[in-house]
Amino acid sequence: MTQRILLVIGGGIAAYKCLDLIRRARERGMSVRVVMTKAATEFVTPLSVGALSNERVFTDLFDLDDEREIGHIRLSRSSDIVVVAPATADLLARMAGGHANDLATAVLMATDKPVLVAPAMNPRMWTHPATRRNVALLQADGIRFVGPNSGEMAERGEAGPGRMAEPLEILDAIGAVLSRGATSAASLAAVPQMHVGPLSGRHVLVTSGPTHEPIDPVRYIANRSSGKQGHAIAAAAARFGARVTLVSGPVAVADPDGCTVIHVETAAKMLEAVKAALPADIGVFAAAVADWRVANAGVEKIKKTATQRTPSLELVENPDILRTIATNRAQRPSLVIGFAAETEDVVEHAKKKRKSKGADWVVANDVSPETNVMGGERNTVHLVTAKGVETWPEMLKTDVAEALVMRAAEHLSRNEAAAE
Ligand code: C5P
Repeated sequence: MTQRILLVIGGGIAAYKCLDLIRRARERGMSVRVVMTKAATEFVTPLSVGALSNERVFTDLFDLDDEREIGHIRLSRSSDIVVVAPATADLLARMAGGHANDLATAVLMATDKPVLVAPAMNPRMWTHPATRRNVALLQADGIRFVGPNSGEMAERGEAGPGRMAEPLEILDAIGAVLSRGATSAASLAAVPQMHVGPLSGRHVLVTSGPTHEPIDPVRYIANRSSGKQGHAIAAAAARFGARVTLVSGPVAVADPDGCTVIHVETAAKMLEAVKAALPADIGVFAAAVADWRVANAGVEKIKKTATQRTPSLELVENPDILRTIATNRAQRPSLVIGFAAETEDVVEHAKKKRKSKGADWVVANDVSPETNVMGGERNTVHLVTAKGVETWPEMLKTDVAEALVMRAAEHLSRNEAAAE
């Protein structure tokens, strides 16, 4: 049976690629009916789109003839899939907001078919928090994404994530969606999301929480880390499209969505899990690893008796996970980020720590009891890099996470663009 695509063309420079998309889809025996936004008609003409699709092109909700002939409800349903390409930042925002003020958005609101979106925009617009929010909302609604890819943009000197997926990639994604037999937004929600976002195709490894170092089977040495900051970083990286491995010590916070979580107790086990998860593009070491463990942890519970002297614990140093990974040449992540929790001279200590541990960046925060950072929801951090120190305003830990992950994504794509 002929597969019927309803293609919504948005107003971006990448609209020209839709001509090729239509041609190739028809070569594969698909039929393509096209709706163009007003802005799209500035980039390609309905005439050329109509010639390639061999169908009438729909351009405006208030075209009364069309409303009488077919109407946006029927238009939206007389296809097997709705594909939006290029999806501009504005079109994504209107979709996420449920707007229906032109034919394209009205069709998208009225459809009961799977929707596949191919975003295309400037990297800064793609990584803007508003676009991130809109993409997350649309994904939660079951909308599928293909791309964007990273690379040179049409604007000179601009590089990064934001290039529209190529026509063949879009066709593959159409095939994948249709072959799953998912015919409605509800059934699509059950289909695992393709990773999309500024970290698509990247692996991010995060350590989080405290470690527990046993004294005996019932007692342990620990610290006050809640895991909130590290878990928020893992969650943000997953939302940005990365494959995320989170190695977590014992915490009360829930496993973040979209991450592979490995639960460990001790520093030794954390190091083992981190090594097993390599290679990674970004390593974020937010865990508050205990510096020491008990040399000979008791196999039996240490008993309190009237005659016995108070037991003394012999401590030995734990492996430094951050340093081990940052100085491991063979499988060092491209970007290694450490944390420095200090109660005094926060920035100075962090600068030293960056060098001594071999990290690229150190996120320093003041954890003096009066700051309420340990276990709290907010954090004031300093980002220490080779270039200097930035002091960020006090923010929610989730916002620190988002800002940090965004910076890391930009750093990777800038470095790669420079290396090309
Ligand atoms: O030396 P300090 O514990 O202050 O360093 C903090 C940074 O080092 C954090 O990024 C922490 O996750 C990491 N670290 C580690 N393994 C250790 C100690 C600290 O990965 N044993």
